[in-house]
Amino acid sequence: MCKKCTIVLLTLSLIFFLTSACLAGAQSHSRADEKGTAVLLVTFGTSIPSAQAAFANIEKLVKKAFPETEIHWAYTSHIIRKKMAKEGKILNSPETALARLMEDGYSKVLVQSLHMIPGSEFHDIRVNAKMFENMSGGFKKVFVSYPLLAGNDNMDKAVERVISHMIPEERKADEAVVLMGHGTHHTADAVYSAMMYKFQKADPNIFMGTVEGHPSFDEVREMLLKKGIRRAYLLPFMSVAGDHAMNDMAGDEEDSWKIMLEKAGIKCIPVLKGIAEYDALAEIWIDNMKVAMSHLK
Ligand code: CO
Repeated sequence: MCKKCTIVLLTLSLIFFLTSACLAGAQSHSRADEKGTAVLLVTFGTSIPSAQAAFANIEKLVKKAFPETEIHWAYTSHIIRKKMAKEGKILNSPETALARLMEDGYSKVLVQSLHMIPGSEFHDIRVNAKMFENMSGGFKKVFVSYPLLAGNDNMDKAVERVISHMIPEERKADEAVVLMGHGTHHTADAVYSAMMYKFQKADPNIFMGTVEGHPSFDEVREMLLKKGIRRAYLLPFMSVAGDHAMNDMAGDEEDSWKIMLEKAGIKCIPVLKGIAEYDALAEIWIDNMKVAMSHLK
């Protein structure tokens, strides 16, 4: 072998040795049991068994959109988690679910907020999920994807799909549709007023009200009376037809929307089906997830 060839061979061996050493080093920093991306669906939760249908439907749609990805659930409501624990059902908070996924060796997580608006729960998840990314041994990436009514385009989509998929066919134009949103002290409560504006523009007999925020029930009732409405369909504008829909909206207690409107001379027809039970509406969350997934690639 000539001297030149020996030098070339030695240099190549050295490069090979250094490259392998570097790769081995890199591997020892990453986890041996790395599993890729997991999906964590985060909802408020419900203790009403019949309302679970909404979650089953979402899971079906998520599976269809991401057949390769494992799906996990977390519940933001402490009260619901406590209540379910008493019945022997242990539900994860977003934080305990993320800790488990970390322990299980996932490197990336798509956290999907199944809330309606970007309110305090959504912002809490964002802050805490990011901490799991900063932890030593934490995830390579966590992306917290937006709730249903995030942004003007999503709001327009929701208005259009409520009108085409949620309103019972037998409803006549002079009959009202009253949607019951949750409402919050958080500034994102303004989304419901924006929705009222958009619904009114699309159909002046569709109204948006909330249980705990604005527009309030009193405002909605006043509008209905001013228009001389005699019949109204009551629909929950929440992911599930849970406690608020069954009691505050359609219940037989004096302070339910149904009873208060009937006292005002408006016949009410409640429809007990949550937003997540309508594929057309639930697909808005799935669309948000698809965008989020592209950020995790
Ligand atoms: Co509530």
